[in-house]
Amino acid sequence: MTVARVVPATDAAVRDAAEELRRGGVVAFPTETVYGLGGDTFNAKALATIYRLKGRPRENPLIAHVLDAAQARKVAAWDDRAGRLAERFWPGPLTIVLPKTPAVPAAATGGRGTVAVRAPSHPVARALLESFGGAISAPSANRSGHVSPTSAAHVAADFADEPDLAILDGGASPLGIESTVVSLASDVPAVLRPGAVSVEELRDTLGRVDTPEIDAQDASPGTTRRHYAPRARTEIVDREGIRERLRRASGPVAVLLLHPPDEDGGSGEDSATSEGEDLLRRVIPMPRDATAYAARLYAALREADATGPDVILIERPPTDVPIDAPLWSAIHDRLRRATAEE
Ligand code: TXA
Ligand code: MG
Repeated sequence: MTVARVVPATDAAVRDAAEELRRGGVVAFPTETVYGLGGDTFNAKALATIYRLKGRPRENPLIAHVLDAAQARKVAAWDDRAGRLAERFWPGPLTIVLPKTPAVPAAATGGRGTVAVRAPSHPVARALLESFGGAISAPSANRSGHVSPTSAAHVAADFADEPDLAILDGGASPLGIESTVVSLASDVPAVLRPGAVSVEELRDTLGRVDTPEIDAQDASPGTTRRHYAPRARTEIVDREGIRERLRRASGPVAVLLLHPPDEDGGSGEDSATSEGEDLLRRVIPMPRDATAYAARLYAALREADATGPDVILIERPPTDVPIDAPLWSAIHDRLRRATAEE
């Protein structure tokens, strides 16, 4: 089997990657949310390669990654609201949708008149942007519809048959779920995808912000009902239900089980699994803290999937924890999409 090229993100490797972008190639790189598969926003060949590698529908637009607001102005019709958002949340996990500038090719925006821009905070992403000197269009570096990658190994697994694809390895993505997407293309700003920047924080900066029900709709074509999904059938179940399902299971089951409340960081074993793991069940302990849960989720789903289970059961995370509830709502959004019927 051939494998994609994972390279440690040294200064030299970042310069090589920027050179590859200048040649119209694509490279995978780490961001603080998930890994991206990037190409020059203004290079039609690079954009075509991204869509081909991902198997992504051409009408699903890409995020243009930029260093800062000054660079964002070259691709987006910047306004005062965008300025306030960038001031508060950039660099960071917030993507802003604005009318595009005429220079941005239709292929970078799925044919739309709008463009999504984000300034990532990850030092490797920033070094790449700096070395390249322009906007980098990048979707998450997974095959279309699959679980987003939070490590170079995840990217390599999805693109194992692409020996020419260089993957800059910058370690595990610290946040672990994709950026919040907010659209300023309408009169009232609208959240198209929840993320680590919460609706409350956006309201604090912008005033009124809508949260439309996002399913297979026009507002954000990448945010379809089933998305971020493992290959195996995946269900969200309460702890009681998990016990019951494990008792009845006749084939292999993988379980994402929350740590018992009193021993976070422990083994994750409790009465649901006190018989221990056997060949038919693979228990993957999950943190109870939202920040840690988000950082772990996609790797856990990939690990679960890799055991070849008949079904993946995810213990329903708490819905009653006000302190980190905003992040939990983004997590629940991803869980819903990972478990939606095809
Ligand atoms: O955290 C992230 O945002 C990661 C890292 C790599 O930056 N990127 C990412 O890209 O998740 P992607 O392509 O997997 O998701 C981009 C989302 C999609 O739901 C897409 O439909 C939406 O942003 N989007 C992009 N451009 C848009 C536009 N012009 N209008 C509405 N939605 C847009
Ligand atoms: Mg994606």
